[in-house]
Amino acid sequence: MVNPLDNIYPAHTAGSFFMWKEFIQNTKRNPILVLAPMADMTDSPYCRIVKKIGGVDVVFHEMVSSEAIVRNSEKTLRMINFHEDERPIVQQIFGADPGVMANAVRSIINKTHPDGIDINMGCPVPKITGTESGSSLMKDPALAYEIVRAVKEVIGDIPLSVKTRLGWDNPDAFHTFLPMLEEAGADLVTLHGRTKSQGYSGEADWNRIAEAKKILHIPLIANGDVSSPEMVKEILAITKADGVMIGRGALGNPWFFLQAKMILENKKAEVSLEEKIPVILEHLQLHLERYGQKGIVTFRKHLGWYFKTNRLEEEIPGIKEFRSRLVRVENVDELEKLLQEIKNAVK
Ligand SMILES: Cc1cc2nc3c(=O)[nH]c(=O)nc-3n(C[C@H](O)[C@H](O)[C@H](O)COP(=O)(O)O)c2cc1C
Repeated sequence: MVNPLDNIYPAHTAGSFFMWKEFIQNTKRNPILVLAPMADMTDSPYCRIVKKIGGVDVVFHEMVSSEAIVRNSEKTLRMINFHEDERPIVQQIFGADPGVMANAVRSIINKTHPDGIDINMGCPVPKITGTESGSSLMKDPALAYEIVRAVKEVIGDIPLSVKTRLGWDNPDAFHTFLPMLEEAGADLVTLHGRTKSQGYSGEADWNRIAEAKKILHIPLIANGDVSSPEMVKEILAITKADGVMIGRGALGNPWFFLQAKMILENKKAEVSLEEKIPVILEHLQLHLERYGQKGIVTFRKHLGWYFKTNRLEEEIPGIKEFRSRLVRVENVDELEKLLQEIKNAVK
């Protein structure tokens, strides 16, 4: 894979010396960059690509259902599998039953030994909130407390984190909810600066994340609307958080983290289309290795993100037409030819 930014961040790309647990325990740490858990997107192949490019300190795998884990659902057990290259990796889990959550966490740890476990207390999707999981737990702090306690009892010395929002509909609910999570035994919290009721509308409130940082004794990761690498510096300055989690900004943009780290060092980092294409093809290979040849269909969503207009640093004549062909590709050959055509269009 061509990496135009090789050797600029050898310390961060090396990965092996950096452990999630050490970060949580070390109070004199540098802020870290985290890949957000995103259902159907931050699977093992994508996390491997992000890690390979570098700049990211820890990746969160997409959420899995605790009920499905304890049922030994084959599909869910495949989802928790990861490659050693991805470490440090945190597996996120959702559920509403403290006993089931504890059993599921025990099972995940025995099977894959992730570096951390994260409990989802922020997902606003009705399929999740309808089962009292995800952001619904913000409406039931007593149950949220019990869940953290139950998981803490079985997790051993693996860090336990919680990802949540400002509140269900009250943007100041975090003032009591977060200290409760800390008291229950959470080792770290990620805060998305929106309420559940907001969904993804409006703007993430970084000032409230700054308030949250002041009231917590455990590390806090700031999340929400960091849509360009330049914004990492800004959110860190405003929130004084211990790290930044990036979601949508990193879709179709595994270069995000390395660019952000370079910008923090006042260096400029641009990646040309020519440099991106081998990475896209390597991502496809990893995707097909995991999902088989039919994986080309699920890879189309990544192609859609890679070629989103605001992801491209150069103008591609005819991009609209190219995009509509990209999201219909049927096989590797066709994609390789299409990428070559796109490359030629830029020259
Ligand atoms: C497609 C997609 C899937 C997501 N899946 C999850 C998930 O599995 N667990 C979770 O805690 N948050 C999930 N989120 C929320 C993100 O982790 C993140 O909190 C949110 O997108 C705000 O950050 P951003 O503005 O950097 O995207 C998802 C978001 C998107 C866009």
